[in-house]
Amino acid sequence: VTRVIAIDGPAGSGKSSVSRSVAANLGYAFLDTGAAYRALTWLALDKGIDVHDSNAVEALMDNFDYSISLDPAIERVSVGGVDVTSEIRDPRISLAVSAIASQLPIRSSMVDMTRELAQSTDYPGVVVEGRDNTTVVFPDADVRVLLTAREDVRIERRSRETTADTSVTEQSIRERDESDSTVVEFRTAADGVHMVDSSDLSFDETVEAILDLCERRKP
Ligand code: DC
Repeated sequence: VTRVIAIDGPAGSGKSSVSRSVAANLGYAFLDTGAAYRALTWLALDKGIDVHDSNAVEALMDNFDYSISLDPAIERVSVGGVDVTSEIRDPRISLAVSAIASQLPIRSSMVDMTRELAQSTDYPGVVVEGRDNTTVVFPDADVRVLLTAREDVRIERRSRETTADTSVTEQSIRERDESDSTVVEFRTAADGVHMVDSSDLSFDETVEAILDLCERRKP
């Protein structure tokens, strides 16, 4: 790929669906990096491994047979050939994933894997979405965006996607951001990173705002 669009942000900011739509609009590949952390968490739980047992989790990562569709029109994640696309969105995964995402050796392997995946496609560009793409994985990306929204808006949006109680969703978003931000900064924009606050924007307006940034930075 020639062009990299890096998008980071907290839970419930709409990153994933917005980034997917940006990729589809540009004719680029789409890579959701959180899916790999979720898939590794799924594997650990499936094998009965304690997510806090860093040696055991590292051993899993060493043989992690992961694949993800880079086509923005197709959402598919698999581990060892097993389709886990919907399983990795389960609340039990959201609850456990931070324990794995806070292990530094795992993060370092995930960074390598993300770069390899992003470079593996024939698309003219890739939109990469997660927590550390603008700062760690692709600090030299062509366009870097921090997509945020006020906490009440993020909780509202997540609540609409799940059947869980709003107070449960609120607690889970808070705790996950709290825990994730101990290892990676995704709450303030680093130098050169464009901040897009989607609190008062519709989905389409948010996609447009990011496409505008991509247009302006066209090589
Ligand atoms: O975006 P998400 O909710 O699917 O991400 C799942 C978890 O993975 C999230 O709690 C933090 C972690 N993550 C990360 O640490 N770095 C990334 N680039 C993407 C996700």
